[in-house]
Amino acid sequence: MNLQILGTGSALPKEVLTNKQLESIVETTDEWVKERTGIAQRHVSTGETVASLATDAAKKALDAAGKSAEDVELIIVATCSPELALPCVACQVQAEIGASKAVAFDLNAACSGFLFALNTAYSYFSSGLYKNAVIIGAEVLSKIIDWTDRGTCILFGDGAGAVYVEANNELPDNYKFVQYANGSKGMVLTCGLRDLDNPLHKEELMKKYVWMDGREIFQFAVRQVSACIEELLEKANVAKENIDYYVLHQANARIIEGISKRLKEDLSKFPTNVEHVGNMSSAAIPVLLDESIKNGTVKKGQTLVLSGFGAGLTYGASVITL
Ligand code: ACO
Repeated sequence: MNLQILGTGSALPKEVLTNKQLESIVETTDEWVKERTGIAQRHVSTGETVASLATDAAKKALDAAGKSAEDVELIIVATCSPELALPCVACQVQAEIGASKAVAFDLNAACSGFLFALNTAYSYFSSGLYKNAVIIGAEVLSKIIDWTDRGTCILFGDGAGAVYVEANNELPDNYKFVQYANGSKGMVLTCGLRDLDNPLHKEELMKKYVWMDGREIFQFAVRQVSACIEELLEKANVAKENIDYYVLHQANARIIEGISKRLKEDLSKFPTNVEHVGNMSSAAIPVLLDESIKNGTVKKGQTLVLSGFGAGLTYGASVITL
C-alpha cells in the first residue's frame, strides 16, 4: 500500500514575539536564546485557537490536493493544548470544513502526535477501512506556558500544519514506521489540567503550566531519536545514502545538531524552521513539511525520514518515499 501525501497546509498566528521582546518579559537575552536553542522568534496567539488554526491548515491542505472536504473519510488532530476538553478539536474542524462523512478524533502524544496520527492513518489504510485522511498537528502552547519561567517560555510557539493523504493500492509500499512510549520517564515534562473539585473533595484551584527538566529531555532526544532512526532504517532496509532529508520535530537547533552528529549525516540534510516558529509540539513536523515543499526543498520522488519525540515520553520515526 502506498501512502500518498497529496496536499499540505499550515497556519500561524498573525502576531510574532521576538527574543528582543522577551527580554522585557523575563531575564534573558536574544543572544542566550539563539545560542542555546536556535530560536529567534515565535508566533503567539492573540485570539487564534487550536481549532481555528487547525481548520485553516486543513482547508489549505485540501486546496493544495484539489480535494473536497465532503469526500474526507478520516480527520485526526494531534494536539496537547485544546481549548475545550469536549468536543474534541477534530470534530470542530469537521464541522468547520463540512467533512460530514468523516470520522474525527484527537490524539495526544505531545510532540510525537502528528507522527503517531500519520501512523494511525496508515494502519487504517492498510486494513482497508479508510482510503483518505486529513492529519493535523495544532497547538496554542502560549496559554499553558508560565511566562515568568525563562527556562520554558523562550522555547515554544503556536501554529498548525496539515496533510491530506490517500491510500493507493496500485503502487508499491512506501511507508515504514517505529513508535515507542516510555511512561516511566513521563514526569520530566508535564503540564497539569484541572484540580479535583467535587462536593466531596475541594481544594484551592491552581493554574497549571508546562514544567520540564530541560537537560533530561535534551539527552533523551539526542540518544533515543538517533537510535530509533537507525532501527527504522534497518527495519525498512533503506541505506542512509538514500535519505534525502530528515524532517525532525523542531524542539531546538542543538538537539537537531546532536542527532545529525550521532547519525553521521550532514546537517544540510536536516531542514529547520525553529528559528522563526520555535517549538510548536505536534504542529512542528507538518508545518516544516509544508514549508519545505513550498520552498522547493522537498520534492516528489524523494525519500524522507520523519521523527517526533516529546512528552510521555513518546518517540518514533517513519520513512516515506514521496
Ligand atoms: N536566559 C538566560 N539564562 C537562562 C535562561 C534564559 N532563558 N534559561 C536558563 N538560564 C540560565 C539558568 O538559570 C542557568 O543559570 P545558572 O548556571 O546560573 O544556574 C544557565 O542558564 C544554564 O541553564 P541550563 O538549564 O543548564 O541550560 P541548558 O544549556 O541546559 O539550556 C535548554 C536550557 C535550552 C532548555 C536546554 O536544556 C534544552 O534545550 N533542553 C531541551 C528542552 C526542550 O527542547 N524542550 C522542549 C519540549 S520537549 C520536546 O519538544 C522534545
